[in-house]
Amino acid sequence: MKKDLISMLDVKNDLEKIIDNAIEMKKGNYEKFMKDKTMAMIFEKASTRTRVSFEVAMHKLGGHAIFLSKNDIQLGRGETIEDTARVLSRYVDVIMYRAFDHENVKELAKHASIPVINGLDNEEHPCQVIADLLTIKEKKGKLKGLKLVYFGDGDNNMAHSLLLGCAIAGIKIKIVSPRKYWPNEYYVNKARELGGKVEIEEINENSAGEADVVVTDTWVSMGDEAEKEERIKNFRGYTVDSQVMARAKEDAIFMHCLPAYYGYEVTKEVAYGKNSVIFDEAENRLWAQMAILKWIFLD
Ligand code: CP
Ligand code: NVA
Repeated sequence: MKKDLISMLDVKNDLEKIIDNAIEMKKGNYEKFMKDKTMAMIFEKASTRTRVSFEVAMHKLGGHAIFLSKNDIQLGRGETIEDTARVLSRYVDVIMYRAFDHENVKELAKHASIPVINGLDNEEHPCQVIADLLTIKEKKGKLKGLKLVYFGDGDNNMAHSLLLGCAIAGIKIKIVSPRKYWPNEYYVNKARELGGKVEIEEINENSAGEADVVVTDTWVSMGDEAEKEERIKNFRGYTVDSQVMARAKEDAIFMHCLPAYYGYEVTKEVAYGKNSVIFDEAENRLWAQMAILKWIFLD
């Protein structure tokens, strides 16, 4: 059966293996197992990291990637997702899809005879969270038993995939968010079903207490632009600044999937500070993508 990566739930039995493979691949230990294989990358939204890391990953593994902006393909003019899936399945070996709607990613996967990778949608961002867990393992030497505290928009793709990813990896997770933006209950329940230790709270003096990892993300995700002003108002007080970091463990790392909006969800002082690992995290997108492809094609 083909393997899709739509949700973190798809890798729940293989997460540590994918991370360990990424660590090996980062040392240069990999074969060009994508030789003569092609990836189609459909983008409905902007991207720097996802686009470039997948394209470079395919190149390093001996294959090729094709960038398809939704506006330039017939999907943008009303061709169905089903027909797009059926046609691309005749040409290429794997599809990466960055979409607005999670249902559309599922629809594409349902009709494609080849693997589909979710390159971010409104509900999840699994490729990013695999890279984040890889970064945490690299920096802390382990995953199990750590505590991660996420500040800001608790109802976005990063928060949801982190809830699942942390639960699978045995990391305790706390989401610190205004009540209006608490995570979708489906993800909280799934995380708890997986044995995850999950807390959700509004910000307080000690929100970052005991954190090994402090994470944030933009307050205005792609697709939320119409609510920008309201969101900036509602998230006031949730900026990760040096006072927040001072409450975390001394050796806590700061993470952000990027792009960052300095002065909003994080200060530049923290993002560029001694605890920050944001550019290692960005680099790890590449090694994580290579390990995801290995999981799909070789395991
Ligand atoms: N973190 C991330 O997915 O970045 P891009 O939007 O640049 O791909
Ligand atoms: N939550 C952000 C992540 C960007 C990589 C968004 O969806 O825009």
